[in-house]
Amino acid sequence: MGVRSLVLVVFTFIAAVLAGSSLPKVDYDVIVVGGGPAGLSTLSGLGRVRRKALLFDDGHYRNGVTRHMHDVIGNDGAVPDEYRALARKQISRYTTTSIKNVRVATIKKENKDAKPGAYFVVMDVKGQKYTARKIVLGTGLQDIFPKTPGIMEAFGKGIYWCPWCDGWEHRDQPFGILGRLRDVMGSVVEIWSLNRDIIAFVDGTDVESDRKKIAERYPNWQKQLEKYNVKIDNRTIKSVERLQDGSKVYDPKEWREYDLFRLNFETGPSVNRSALITNYPYKQRSTLPDQLGLERDANDTNKIKVNINGMRTSLDGVFCVGDANNDGSTNVPHAMFSGKRAAVYVHVEIERENSLDSIQKRGTKFSSRSAEKKAIRIIGNDLEEAWAKAQKAK
Ligand SMILES: Cc1cc2nc3c(=O)[nH]c(=O)nc-3n(C[C@H](O)[C@H](O)[C@H](O)COP(=O)(O)OP(=O)(O)OC[C@H]3O[C@@H](n4cnc5c(N)ncnc54)[C@H](O)[C@@H]3O)c2cc1C
Ligand SMILES: *[C@@H]1O[C@H](CO)[C@@H](O)[C@H](O)[C@H]1NC(C)=O
Ligand SMILES: *[C@@H]1O[C@H](CO)[C@@H](O)[C@H](O)[C@H]1NC(C)=O
Ligand SMILES: *[C@@H]1O[C@H](CO)[C@@H](O)[C@H](O)[C@H]1NC(C)=O
Repeated sequence: MGVRSLVLVVFTFIAAVLAGSSLPKVDYDVIVVGGGPAGLSTLSGLGRVRRKALLFDDGHYRNGVTRHMHDVIGNDGAVPDEYRALARKQISRYTTTSIKNVRVATIKKENKDAKPGAYFVVMDVKGQKYTARKIVLGTGLQDIFPKTPGIMEAFGKGIYWCPWCDGWEHRDQPFGILGRLRDVMGSVVEIWSLNRDIIAFVDGTDVESDRKKIAERYPNWQKQLEKYNVKIDNRTIKSVERLQDGSKVYDPKEWREYDLFRLNFETGPSVNRSALITNYPYKQRSTLPDQLGLERDANDTNKIKVNINGMRTSLDGVFCVGDANNDGSTNVPHAMFSGKRAAVYVHVEIERENSLDSIQKRGTKFSSRSAEKKAIRIIGNDLEEAWAKAQKAK
């Protein structure tokens, strides 16, 4: 720290004491954890309004394995690493922001009951500590794979996660669905406009409980699958072998990738497929939400519950954006939307706290609801209604 900034800090401290400020003295307005599209979007939104913000990232991105990122307008087909690098470069223009490529080990809330005096102590894995008034978690999700050899290795490269991600590149090719029987209909409905020759490899999950589960949403699932001519193969998968690599054999003009896989089973003959989609479980990438005791979604316990108005979690001062939250969407545009929304909300909340503090209305209970209203006025609230409807329709 230079002499000038040291003087500034001391001066700020004395001024705050003289003024009787109840605001915490911290290193940063906001600490963001996670450098995917969600966290970067938050950092950008904070930097543009000159908030002092620090972002931590340890670089295990959910789409880190994929060849190209799709359905992100203006960036369709971008290489994810290049996309994030460009975002970082653009954000670096805003001099109150900074990024550290290091993992956060712990976050603790201090002065818990003081509103707005509470703050957070963030410690990275090297033991370095930082303080901030607000925390935004964009820590993401982690996919969980079966032990079957060959599947994890090909994830994002012909064995893919969502139709919007990589479906177009494999359109009209012999296709497979991996994962439990209960999820087969959902995938068929999503993929049918792209692929017609479909086999679902359910790997021994054609059992009573899965039949019940699929029937809850699709009471006539067997008839529907018949109409779509989708075959169910319940054999145990022994391995998935790559016969051809679509990153080497592809048509750059038509955006077609020609992968080829051979599925081998415990019994009976092997089957070839050009592409497969997965339905595998996932979990929170980070332990930070649990450290902070954040409430989870009642139905999807792998997601952190937020109020979509401001991406606010169950703990005051902590926000959750991107895949990790439960606002019903997991893709790059959503990560950007939710990150941006949290940035606006956090920015307004901080200034309201400053404002109340400056007029010395101690005892005035800070209302996060009114800050929320202000954020809604700035960025709109149409999605809230749509979201509520979608939850009801589920
Ligand atoms: C194979 C695949 C392909 C996909 N393709 C597309 C696509 O084409 N288009 C699309 O829109 N969506 C796609 N998606 C979805 C997209 O990847 C996610 O929706 C998006 O990455 C979510 O962004 P995020 O910022 O929430 O999380 P992430 O991008 O996963 O970033 C989270 C970051 O937080 C970091 N982190 C976690 N804990 C800590 C900690 N304690 N300290 C520091 N850092 C931490 C992680 O290391 C990681 O860098 C794809 C997903 C997969 C699995
Ligand atoms: C599917 O495979 C599992 C595991 O081998 C078995 O228990 C189940 O009975 C099979 N289902 C059908 C319909 O054959
Ligand atoms: C799978 O594809 C390979 C390579 O084209 C071919 O040699 C093999 O005969 C095919 N197997 C089946 C079962 O179609
Ligand atoms: C969970 O699911 C139940 C039953 O479908 C529904 O009534 C409830 O509103 C859902 N809860 C949440 C938090 O989405």
